[in-house]
This record gives sequence, structure tokens and C-alpha cells, in this order.
Amino acid sequence: MNLALYSPKNGYYRSNASVIGHQGDFITAPETSDLFGYSLARQCKQILNKSASILEFGGGNGVLAVQILFELARLNALPKKYYILELSAQLKKRQYETISKVLPELVDNVEWLSELPKIFSGIVIANEVLDAMPAKRLMFSDGSFIELGVDYIDGQFQWCLFDEPYSGLMKIPTDNFIEGYKTEINLQASAWIESLYDAMYEGVVLLIDYGMNRTEYFHPQRSEGTLRCYYKHKASDNPFENVGKQDITTSVNFSDIADQASDSGFEVLGYCNQAMFLLSLGIEDYLLEEKDNAKRIQLAQQIKQLVLPSAMGESFKVLALSKKHTVKLDGFREQDLAGKL
Ligand SMILES: C[S@@+](CC[C@H](N)C(=O)[O-])C[C@H]1O[C@@H](n2cnc3c(N)ncnc32)[C@H](O)[C@@H]1O
Repeated sequence: MNLALYSPKNGYYRSNASVIGHQGDFITAPETSDLFGYSLARQCKQILNKSASILEFGGGNGVLAVQILFELARLNALPKKYYILELSAQLKKRQYETISKVLPELVDNVEWLSELPKIFSGIVIANEVLDAMPAKRLMFSDGSFIELGVDYIDGQFQWCLFDEPYSGLMKIPTDNFIEGYKTEINLQASAWIESLYDAMYEGVVLLIDYGMNRTEYFHPQRSEGTLRCYYKHKASDNPFENVGKQDITTSVNFSDIADQASDSGFEVLGYCNQAMFLLSLGIEDYLLEEKDNAKRIQLAQQIKQLVLPSAMGESFKVLALSKKHTVKLDGFREQDLAGKL
């Protein structure tokens, strides 16, 4: 997964092709509607003070940065700096083009980073970043989980089993599983949370992604795990085709992330689904304020896509973590499921 997504020459996220958006392979929330970023900006305004910055991980096409900066400028609450930590040179270029085209007056407020700053105060935003981190795949066999590797035999990639049982902690009773049950574990995401804590002086982390708590993650019916591939808006579960040309992703186990966050020292500020988060922040206000009928119909369609359970509303979750910041966030006014993590 790491090589297929990130190898410098042929990795999916290193290619010059458009991967995100209508012309790419999948659509993310900021690509669905500006109202996603505008609502997120409202949440940022509640947290930001004069010395605080925003740090966005994996900025995609730069659309979320534009939405947040545009709305914060309108609300007179711009951050000290808007950092984007982007691993891909191609995406960095695209982000610069998007921001300088739409918000030329604010492009100087944006700074690109290639690694975590030594010390950071403010808001960290990661939309669909955890799901893009390379995960390990495991299979239940003979009473324990065994890691699945990838072999290359007769010109073809195929799954193979490691010799020894997986020695990492699963935090779930192993008598729940049928023979052959598959799942994933994202150690990179856990390590990332830990390094984030070390780099933060104070602030809030907003993680938005598709995923669920541990009980749902290891549901008996999820016997094929959560690994999915996306190629030209078609989903499959075969990572061995279109290698380097399709997205590979796994759902986020938010209980694991919250546990790691607490172990590192973060406080869990809230956890809810995307629909409740956006509604708590008043996403529908933008609809009511729109005078143009045709535009209002368009916005209503976009809001449906972001909040309906059959679309992105329920499968996507928001987890907020904090360091030295204990204010109850507006985004969790309608729902806070942190107790279920
Ligand atoms: C599915 S895309 C989401 C892009 C964008 N956030 C959006 O919502 O449109 C995942 C992005 O996460 C980035 N990513 C993955 N791991 C990362 C890490 N450790 N640090 C920064 N970015 C990372 C990938 O390079 C990719 O650009």
C-alpha cells in the first residue's frame, strides 16, 4: 500500500494525473461543496486566537484551504498563518495554483511544509488523510490474527500469510472471529498522532474521515475488512489491479485513534458523525441566506450529499482532540458520541 500510493516515481499520490474530483477517481467533502469548508471555518473561528495558525495535512487540490480562508476572511478571523503539509510536489503545485487563482490576496498567508513544524499552536485539520495512510492487513486463522503480505508469483501480485501470528495488540477478544475473517490495523496513523502531540504547543486537532468505533470496526459481518480501491469513481476490493493508478484506502478505527491520542496526552474533545457536526455548525444557514433560487436548489443538493446517511452524513465521522484547550466545541452541540469510542 505504501509503495502503490507513495513511491516517488510510480505512487498514486505522486502522479501528475488529477486523482481527486470529478475528473479523478473519488470525490471528497470539500470537492462536493464549499459549504463544507465554510462550516469548518466557523468551527475554527471559535478556537482561533490572534497567535494561532491552521495546519492542514494532505491539502488535495487546495479547495478546502480556499473555502476556510475565504470564510474566515469574511468573518474577520483569519489565522496568523495557514500551513499546508503536503507530501506530493504535484499536489503542492496544484494547491498553489488554486489558491492564487481564487484568493490572490491571501496566497501570502499560506505556507507549504514538507514536515511537521518543531512547535505549532492552533488548529490541525486532516480531511481524509488517516484513511490514506498505509495499513496492515490481517487474517484470523487458528485462533489468532496473522499478517497478510503481498507476494509476486508468475507475474502476478497475490496475498500471502506471514509465518508467525501478529504480535501487536488487537484490543478485541479473539473468540469473536470466524476463520478467514480479515481486518486492518493502522500503525502509521497511531504513530502520526503521537508525533502530532509532540509538535503541538497548544491547540485542537480535527480529524474527519470515514470510519467507526472499535465495536463496529470488528463487526462479525465486516469479514472482508475495510480495504477499498477507487478507480474512476468505481470501487473495488482488488489492490492488485491498476497499481499506482487507483486509490487504496482503509476505514479509520476511531477508537484506536482516540486511545492513542489519550496515551500521547491529548484530551478527546468530541466525536460525532459528519452530518451532526455540520448541522451543529449551522450549515443550513448558508441555504437560508441564499437569495438566488437556482443557487439555493444547488446548495440544497450539496448539503444533502454531505449530511444524508445514505451519502456522506453517517459514514464520515469527526474526532476532535485537544492539548491545553478545554472549550466545548460548537461542532458537537447536537451530538457527542465520544463515550462510545
Ligand atoms: C484522500 S486524499 C484527501 C485530500 C484532501 N484532504 C481532500 O479532502 O480533498 C489523502 C491525502 O492525504 C495525504 N497524506 C497521507 N499521509 C499523509 C501524511 N502523513 N502527511 C501528510 N499528508 C498525508 C496524501 O498524500 C493525500 O494527498
